[in-house]
Amino acid sequence: MTGPDKLAAILDAHAGREGPLLPILHDVQAAFGCVSAEAEIAIAAHLNLSRAEVHGVVSFYHDFTATPDPRPAIQLCRAEACKARGIEALIPAATAAAGSRVRIATVYCLGLCSAGPAARVGDELYARIDEAALVRLVESA
Ligand code: FES
Repeated sequence: MTGPDKLAAILDAHAGREGPLLPILHDVQAAFGCVSAEAEIAIAAHLNLSRAEVHGVVSFYHDFTATPDPRPAIQLCRAEACKARGIEALIPAATAAAGSRVRIATVYCLGLCSAGPAARVGDELYARIDEAALVRLVESA
């Protein structure tokens, strides 16, 4: 399936859905590794939105990137509850372990607020991470 065909299939899969923009963007990000400018234009046309509206959502959420980044990514929650539970103190060790091989991404809430600090790798969530656990996650990514 070509890129345009794959994008059309994603758009068709969400036809008639309430609030389709975010699910479409997640599917496009997963399928292409990014939400390109061309995809933004096609999505906007399909949903009868302006490209600026679509781009505003893409640029607001850290889940979406404009270009593919082939590196493995680890998301670290830096919202208030995880800050209170010490995520900031873990960042230097994670960054050092990541080097340029792993992308450390900041997110704001992974839904584990009472069990922070929280991280996500792919579809896996990690709660109550400490420095050693986080460094192991980075090294195994
Ligand atoms: S604040 Fe970190 S998971 Fe909600």
